Amino acid sequence: MRPEIRPFHAMTIGAAAFRMQEAGEPVIHMEYGQPSARPPEAVMDAARAMLDDGVKGYWESDELKSLIAGSYSELHGSTVAPENVILTCGASPALSLALMTAFDPGARIAMARPGYVAHRNVVTGLHMHPVELPCDAATGFQLTASMLAGLDPAPDGVILASPANPTGSIIPRMEMEKIADLCRERNIRIISDEIYIRLTYGEPAASISEFTGDAFIVNSFSKYYVMPGWRLGWVVVPEEHRERAVAYMSNFFLTPPSLSQEAGIASFRCTEELDALIGVYRRNRQMLLEKLPALGMTEMAPPDGAFYIYGRVDQFTDDSRDLCLELLKDTGVATASGVDFDPVEGHRFMRFSFAVTEQEVAQALERITPWFTSKL
Ligand SMILES: Cc1ncc(COP(=O)(O)O)c(C=O)c1O
Repeated sequence: MRPEIRPFHAMTIGAAAFRMQEAGEPVIHMEYGQPSARPPEAVMDAARAMLDDGVKGYWESDELKSLIAGSYSELHGSTVAPENVILTCGASPALSLALMTAFDPGARIAMARPGYVAHRNVVTGLHMHPVELPCDAATGFQLTASMLAGLDPAPDGVILASPANPTGSIIPRMEMEKIADLCRERNIRIISDEIYIRLTYGEPAASISEFTGDAFIVNSFSKYYVMPGWRLGWVVVPEEHRERAVAYMSNFFLTPPSLSQEAGIASFRCTEELDALIGVYRRNRQMLLEKLPALGMTEMAPPDGAFYIYGRVDQFTDDSRDLCLELLKDTGVATASGVDFDPVEGHRFMRFSFAVTEQEVAQALERITPWFTSKL
């Protein structure tokens, strides 16, 4: 039987927002986790130069794999061998690749709820079973080692995401170490989705590579490197799984776009410029944190990383999908409902993505303030 997977509702609101925009209305897009900044000029130049020289055919850049592997020792003091880095067309195929490589159909995979919509849906789509761990403000909406210890039988795998989508919250370094230890003891394979790891506003986020060499690590150029449409990412695979993962990658996906790989190499020379964007996100985050509680958003997750604010809005609605659509129609500000991230409690929550400009956040707040205030 083909498994049923649920739609991605943010796409529905995104489509409505684009229709409004085409009709000439000034829409502010805070529904997708998509940076509005353009990649650095050096990245664009590298892509242009490759276009002029003739784009390579199927290609896996050894230079890019080495740069990625090197970034683990530079940022986390951990060792990753370049041959254990598999280049993918973004974090999404990297996640599928990790799941297909590590688990059999029927495997039970634990994950936090709320969590990134595709974690649950891809696990289901691959004939595996999500084991959702309900998480709330008490643990920063993150799963913990003791939650995993309480599962009987132990799951086959666990997906971690720190910083997380939709909450932006981080698993504290000590807790991550405990999770790594517990997973070793109980033979639970870890997939760590580290796509937001370079986007933090306080303590840097820990990588699972600091605590174990047995985890699959998923990452991409879509967020920190502001290249979501270039479809480039990677998965670090444990040595024992390398051959199988390479076979899956080449049969299912071949290689990521060669143009994007060339641009990806250039982006490693642009970290100063990319780090400056974190300053923009930091100010956006501050503006929202100062205003949203007074507008009635409560129980906000600690947005220590990524570029999201997720909070409770059930004093306004019993279905945040309707609230988001109404907000879009009345103010032109597009946001995401929590239902994508949490099928049980998500109708009480909504998410703002602040990967836009400071002017856009200021304008969005100007528009939504009277709207929410009138409903209080
Ligand atoms: C936690 C998480 N993982 C993976 C992805 C998918 O990223 P990519 O564009 O690299 O496929 C996203 C996108 O929003 C995400 O939030």
